[in-house]
Amino acid sequence: SWTTTSIVDEQVALIRDQVGSKRAICGLSGGVDSAVAAALVQKAIGAQLTCVYVDHGLMRKGETEQVEKDFVAATGVQLKVVDAADRFLDALEGVSDPEQKRKIIGREFIRVFEQAQAELVAEAGAAGEDVAFLVQGTLYPDVVESGGGSGTANIKSHHNVGGLPDDLEFQLVEPLRKLFKDEVRMVGQELGLPEEIVQRQPFPGPGLGIRIVGAVTRERLDLLREADAIAREELTAAGLDRDIWQCPVVLLADVRSVGVQGDGRTYGHPVVLRPVSSEDAMTADWSRLPYDVLSRVSTRITNEVRDVNRVVLDITSKPPGTIEWE
Ligand code: XMP
Repeated sequence: SWTTTSIVDEQVALIRDQVGSKRAICGLSGGVDSAVAAALVQKAIGAQLTCVYVDHGLMRKGETEQVEKDFVAATGVQLKVVDAADRFLDALEGVSDPEQKRKIIGREFIRVFEQAQAELVAEAGAAGEDVAFLVQGTLYPDVVESGGGSGTANIKSHHNVGGLPDDLEFQLVEPLRKLFKDEVRMVGQELGLPEEIVQRQPFPGPGLGIRIVGAVTRERLDLLREADAIAREELTAAGLDRDIWQCPVVLLADVRSVGVQGDGRTYGHPVVLRPVSSEDAMTADWSRLPYDVLSRVSTRITNEVRDVNRVVLDITSKPPGTIEWE
């Protein structure tokens, strides 16, 4: 649209002005905000931008490939992918407590990101260039919530997988500071980003790590990834993506129940479907999904995912239940 085009043109000019001939770094999370911010900056300064994507091994099926392939294809951005799955899973070994999991994931994320950042700064320095800027996908509601301070790393940790280091030596580039979520999606569309990225529903920074009730292991992640992919596939096929805010799928890894399949007794795990409708995630109601859709999801998950023999539906609103289980 006319307004979206003018937002893009205005921001591109501002970014060029701000960054000049220096270099910038942007962390990609797979989410809409960081993707659109990166695409805008890429449009403005091209090869002066490098993006960093930390793969913590807790993403859903296909999400890392979406960033590595589709996002790069759509924007032409230079991307450094850090495969840190082993490191995260080692640090999470045997940990069941939700807050502990969040702390560990946030801490490891900062360490890995800072290391990648330092490497990029060193490489640029060797080439006689100066990396002075860090791109952030801060939105208008984030600015208001954090007191409207500008140019500093004053952002809620919730939105950034654990926040930024205190000794930040970069200036921030925040091209989405005046925008709301729907406007960000329109800008993303205008910039030619893939639909799967632009229309992506919220997904927590700690990823599937906080959707396994119990300790996180590779095997459990694989089960959950399969179950989650089936639920998403069926919801998309039923045309329900825009009707629901998000639908976490949760693996109750510490719970077992008896089932029967063919002639055999099974003793497997339940998964929980948590479809919610919401305006802003502060409050939420459980989504009244059509029974036939729920039925297809249940049949497919129990047929296709080994060790999952029961699918249950969470019908709790928020409050009292949070959207995520951990
Ligand atoms: P809750 O579970 O608190 O979730 O009702 C509210 C919204 O926030 C998302 N969420 C997170 N997002 N990092 C994030 O970036 C986090 O640690 C995190 N925890 C929850 C959740 O998916 C929902 O949209």
